[in-house]
Amino acid sequence: MTEDIPEREARAFDLDNGDKIFITQRDGSFFAYQNLCPHLQVELEFLENQFLDREQEYIECSTHGALFLVESGECVSGPCQGQALEKVVISVHSDGGIYLALDA
Ligand code: FES
Repeated sequence: MTEDIPEREARAFDLDNGDKIFITQRDGSFFAYQNLCPHLQVELEFLENQFLDREQEYIECSTHGALFLVESGECVSGPCQGQALEKVVISVHSDGGIYLALDA
């Protein structure tokens, strides 16, 4: 639900298919990515649900500090610069539910 993910915060979710993703809110929009750093294919967060940098401006990998744009997942600083997080397509319904558009 959207109310579970406040502006400039993020929440991790484990999908039934084993994928680990996280969703974050920025300026009223929601963005979801696989919880996998393109640098070493490790999970991004060190503390639970801590996916953003100190200023809550960028998504941050806790391992080597790579920074990613919230809106696109593009790495703009760090060892994987030029690469990107893998986006997860979601849709937000009027009831406040967040739904995944998964491949069949
Ligand atoms: S593993 Fe994420 S920046 Fe190195």
